[in-house]
Amino acid sequence: MSNMEANSNNSIQISKKRKMSGDTSTLHLDGIPLDTLSEVEKYLEPFRLSLEKLKEVSVRLKKDLIRGLGKHSHHRAAVKMLPTFVRATPDGTGRATRSQSRGDCNIPYRDSSIEKGDYLALDLGGTNFRVLYVRVVEEQQKVVKMDSKICSIPQEMMLGTGEQLFDHIAQCLGEFLESQDLKGQTLPLGFTFSFPCEQKEIDKSILIRWTKGFSCSGVEGQDVVKLLKEAIHRRGDYDIGSVAMVNDTVGTMMSCGYRDQSCEIGMIIGTGTNACYMEEIKNVKRVEGEDGRMCINTEWGGFGDDGSLKDILTEFDEVVDQTSINPGVHTFEKMISGMYLGEIVRLLLVKMAEDKLLFKGETSEALLTPGQFETKYISEIEEPDSGLENAQKILTALGLNWDPVDACVVRLVCDTISSRSARLCAAALATISNRIRVNRGLDHLKTTVGVDGTVYRKHPNFSEELQAAVRLLAPKCDITFLVSEDGSGKGAAMVTAVAQRIALHCWLA
Ligand code: BGC
Repeated sequence: MSNMEANSNNSIQISKKRKMSGDTSTLHLDGIPLDTLSEVEKYLEPFRLSLEKLKEVSVRLKKDLIRGLGKHSHHRAAVKMLPTFVRATPDGTGRATRSQSRGDCNIPYRDSSIEKGDYLALDLGGTNFRVLYVRVVEEQQKVVKMDSKICSIPQEMMLGTGEQLFDHIAQCLGEFLESQDLKGQTLPLGFTFSFPCEQKEIDKSILIRWTKGFSCSGVEGQDVVKLLKEAIHRRGDYDIGSVAMVNDTVGTMMSCGYRDQSCEIGMIIGTGTNACYMEEIKNVKRVEGEDGRMCINTEWGGFGDDGSLKDILTEFDEVVDQTSINPGVHTFEKMISGMYLGEIVRLLLVKMAEDKLLFKGETSEALLTPGQFETKYISEIEEPDSGLENAQKILTALGLNWDPVDACVVRLVCDTISSRSARLCAAALATISNRIRVNRGLDHLKTTVGVDGTVYRKHPNFSEELQAAVRLLAPKCDITFLVSEDGSGKGAAMVTAVAQRIALHCWLA
């Protein structure tokens, strides 16, 4: 039997084995000789999570969700389960509600009328920061983006002081207003701030901790809206109206909710990962009230921070964590999201090269440099048609001495790492969907997830793999996935528009 034949037989066997264990992925095994493949597999095996393991992970997350919702347990919970101000009333109308305990007003989810007018939206969550000018033209759905501007956030600023960061944001906003001739107006502003915040009111949000490579001093424990307003006042050349803060998951769920009435989960798989969903208020022990639902920002990225995922963490995950700017924090996110996937692949490639399995035993300066293997390369290398060619180009650009088998092995490594990410997300999403189903005493749940994030959007088969695994893990849930259209910006504007109407309503009430 030729090498090629042996190899393809072997591929078939592995694929069959995977299928039987519930693995729906199609691995890129072609072009790798058998003996190399079995060596490579030793490195990759720890990343392959069986359906049984994923079910175990789901059971652990299920317990953590309950812990996070508990009145006394939430302080210590790894999964924070943060209440938001987005509520739905039992009749589904989403009428404005006034919280009796504090006298403040909540934002109804899927309100039937949002306030017409012009709004600003800010979106901070990754290395870029966006300012948008939007117009709500009619009732419902009609949020029109007038213009927008992207400002980059230099690495030094992500690690500098909070004052520098907010001054930069205020400057970017100021330049945008100037260019739009809007400086004289005080427009309401929706702020999508994609970090874990304890929301005190719709315009008061305390940063619990930075994630995704940010570590600006003097912001954790502070009200982000106040810091933004102070930066604007330091300039003194323009002002903003009322502010509504939302997490990107909430913005995504809300903007998708206007397109699909059954959207009750928002999920992000981008630089970071997280999800929110509509929980029964009676289960949110920190919030008073028995009726209706409230959107909970799970902050599932923190899953495992108490050691609950130790058994599935690999030595490479440990290195990614230890060399990150926030060791011990956001364990789940570090196995899944775009900020880290490329780095996991890089570490594996370095190890395999050092062990003489790749690149004739040689590395390169680029490959030895953290961050040089970008997550977008994974998507490019996994492209169905041009993947191998892309792999070769990328390896050349990284200064590596590759041969055709190396390119195939690198593709298999990328495949394995992205598959693990998709399957872990699936386990988490299945946990939430199952929870919603059980909460409502349903045999079968039909629901929609609003999704956003570069990993989900750009990777060639991430979404397919995630969806296939969710079907296996939550067989009683029929989930539709809706990719948001300009999610966070539009979502923030919608929340602001609703908030604006509610503010008027509450003020008049
Ligand atoms: C943050 C979340 C956010 C997610 C996706 C995580 O690092 O903690 O608040 O929703 O990234 O952007």
